[in-house]
Amino acid sequence: MLKETLAEGQKLTDAALERLLPPALAYPTSIHQAMRHSVFAGGKRLRPVLCMEAARMVSGRLPWGVEEVGAALEMLHTYSLIHDDLPALDNDDLRRGRPTCHKAFGEATAILAGDALQTRAYEVLAQVRCPAEARIQIIEEIAHGTGTIGGMIGGQVVDLEAERSRPDLETVEYIHRAKTAALITATVVSGAIYAAADQQALGSIRSFGQKVGLAFQIVDDVLDVTATSEQLGKTAGKDRAAEKATYPALFGIEESLRRADQLVSNACALLDGFAERSRTLQCLAHFLVERKK
Ligand code: IPE
Ligand code: IPE
Ligand code: MG
Ligand code: MG
Ligand code: MG
Repeated sequence: MLKETLAEGQKLTDAALERLLPPALAYPTSIHQAMRHSVFAGGKRLRPVLCMEAARMVSGRLPWGVEEVGAALEMLHTYSLIHDDLPALDNDDLRRGRPTCHKAFGEATAILAGDALQTRAYEVLAQVRCPAEARIQIIEEIAHGTGTIGGMIGGQVVDLEAERSRPDLETVEYIHRAKTAALITATVVSGAIYAAADQQALGSIRSFGQKVGLAFQIVDDVLDVTATSEQLGKTAGKDRAAEKATYPALFGIEESLRRADQLVSNACALLDGFAERSRTLQCLAHFLVERKK
């Protein structure tokens, strides 16, 4: 069942991205090719799938057009990856099994491709097919989740500043919650808003996203140690080389995984109120910590 959910979500997301991104041959072509190089490189599309499944859980069916919110989230996520890989940040050569954007197109184009994915994402969000009030809430939610106050950019800043320092749990947790969990939280919350969730439902879904998002980054850190570059489609072992502040550096692999499992169990319990309808999102949450790439 999970396999089908992922496959269906990935297909819907890819079709929406294909439709919503400027064509590769639109002038100026270099930027559009760079955007597409990174977007269509075989990402797992987990954020769009989480967004759609949160919406489905709330309304009992997949709301029409919600995949466009998912596509915008994937544009923002891909922008964050392009910039994360730049020489000034993590300096990575490999992403999603391909040369990173700056390796393939040069740094200037990669910076601009990240910027362009971000602006296009908000243009798409401004047009998604839900009532205007919900649309504004979604935009605010996502902008906040990718911003500097507890959001993705804030997390990236502290991630870089914490390199080569002795990390403490408070700092590592801030980094993880901000750089990764905040966007994942915005992802499920946006899906729920699109599906017209009430305040109580939004509260549970938000806490679910925060826990699952933290678990997701813990597992990303663990995989950096335990998996190969071939498996991951990105360079393994980078965190230790850069002396990043990570969960495994703090607790070791086993304890990190135990904490990720515990977070996912607690996250799933928050969805009990949705009864049978929460099954898919719960399966997805377990998949996030069991994933091998
Ligand atoms: C990688 O995210 C970056 C993190 C926030 C940990 P994913 O593991 O979802 O990467 P893709 O989208 O599948 O490439
Ligand atoms: C990146 O975290 C999180 C982002 C906001 C992009 P990492 O630096 O650990 O992600 P990977 O391992 O390069 O995908
Ligand atoms: Mg990084
Ligand atoms: Mg990185
Ligand atoms: Mg990583």
